[in-house]
Amino acid sequence: MEYNSLSTLVLVFLPFLLFITRKYYKGVKNLPPGPKPWPIIGNIHQIGHKPHASTAMFSKEYGPLISLRFGSKLIVVASSREAAMGILKTQDRLLSGRSIADSLHQSFMDFYFVWANDCSDHWKSLRTLTRVELFSTKAIEAQSNLRNEKLTQMLDYLDTMQGKVVKIEGVVFTTLFNTLSNLLFSKDFVDLKDEHGTSHAMKSALLKLFQNASTPCVSDFFPLLGGLDLQGLRKNSLTQLNKLSSFWEDIVKERRARIPSSSVNNEKDFLDRLLENEFTNTQIDILTLDLFSAGTDTVVTTIEWAMSELLRNKEIMNKLHEELKNEIGSTSIKKIDFSRMTYFNACIKETLRLHPVVPLLIPRRAIETCDVMSYTIPKDAQIWINVWAISRDPQIWEDPHTFKPERFILSNLDFRGHDYEFIPFGAGRRMCPGLPSGINSLQTILASLILRYDWVLPNNEDPSKIDMTEKFGTTLQKEKPLEIIFKHKE
Ligand code: HEM
Repeated sequence: MEYNSLSTLVLVFLPFLLFITRKYYKGVKNLPPGPKPWPIIGNIHQIGHKPHASTAMFSKEYGPLISLRFGSKLIVVASSREAAMGILKTQDRLLSGRSIADSLHQSFMDFYFVWANDCSDHWKSLRTLTRVELFSTKAIEAQSNLRNEKLTQMLDYLDTMQGKVVKIEGVVFTTLFNTLSNLLFSKDFVDLKDEHGTSHAMKSALLKLFQNASTPCVSDFFPLLGGLDLQGLRKNSLTQLNKLSSFWEDIVKERRARIPSSSVNNEKDFLDRLLENEFTNTQIDILTLDLFSAGTDTVVTTIEWAMSELLRNKEIMNKLHEELKNEIGSTSIKKIDFSRMTYFNACIKETLRLHPVVPLLIPRRAIETCDVMSYTIPKDAQIWINVWAISRDPQIWEDPHTFKPERFILSNLDFRGHDYEFIPFGAGRRMCPGLPSGINSLQTILASLILRYDWVLPNNEDPSKIDMTEKFGTTLQKEKPLEIIFKHKE
């Protein structure tokens, strides 16, 4: 359901909504400007199915900080470097909450990581625990054998598929999912060759959860309707959550029976650490889901965009292949220091600039009323940072719509949250903690695919004609998934 269909549903409940929204519209002064809202539905009908693009259009007319009404909710959208900095740096503390989608179940509110309502003690302990156990330089180094093993399995599988059409997103998804499931539970959950059984069930449950979370939901805009679950999203999400947690339920049970664990320190996985920290089963389920959902689709989608751009830009691909061949040669990919590979890293940055996979970041929430750029952001307003618009701002980027890795060669711009014109991982307190893991996966998977294979499009299609249309969801995907025939390099 997109925003337009949502307005139809709203019309059915018109009289009731008229009653409940009257009190919300009164009294907030000095809001950022924006298009005039309609009674009751506000601006919902003007957003369409690409909110990143429609709000970028509005910002051209109304300025870098705009406000919109979705039912009784106020949405503030920042579309310039200065506006992003005002939110993510100057007012980071007061704007560091999240609005939890109705489909995600308020009852688990205290356990979420990505969706944590505010920077609570539990959220702080999750940031610390995941940094130490999963994302620190030491942790990433310790994961190198596992990552290499999953990568090798992916390449072996692709060898068997030579000459056949491969949907790249499925293969990369399975590889990342198993890498993560081994870090968490020391077990593969999905199988590259099994497109129907467990793999299929698990993938489709996760995808359905993603879909539910990104479907515009009437109860999010009219919270008083929350109890009714009119679109059935909450019920369906709970079904998917139960399906998914059944895959690790027995592992958790067995592991609890083993506590206190006799396993040696360096054999412990993330689940052992969670049990040592007395996590309940529900806390484990919710955290696992948060990590699977934040850590798979983002990387898969970025790889798909990068490959599409490299296919369309043959000269860039040749230059990149040359650099990788010279720097890596026959060295094992797990021993490579990618920081030396200037052109490769510039290609990754350029992909993240032109195709930021979380184009509006994950919406923030004002935990208190505050000011940004001399406008008032009232308590509980939802805040979107339009990274997509900032990444294409012609005042910052020359020729912004063209894929040009060279622009990053002579610049020190980085995505670590200090340069507000380039924030694909966000910035401030809620910035992506999985950045080191995501970048490592992007580098190793992309480099291996480039070094090992020539990529050909099905039916020898002309790469310049690859359909680059975007589809907005939990991540900004390619509407038409990329299909490739891999051929071993001579
Ligand atoms: C290309 C890869 C990735 C991109 C572009 C990306 C991007 C993002 C963005 C934009 C946010 C929101 C930041 C904000 O609100 O300011 C985020 C949050 C998050 N990401 Fe990532 N991410 C990636 C990979 C990963 C990986 C691999 C993991 C974990 C395995 C991960 C875990 C998380 C978590 C847990 C949060 C929520 C943090 C919080 O709310 O405190 N991400 N990510």
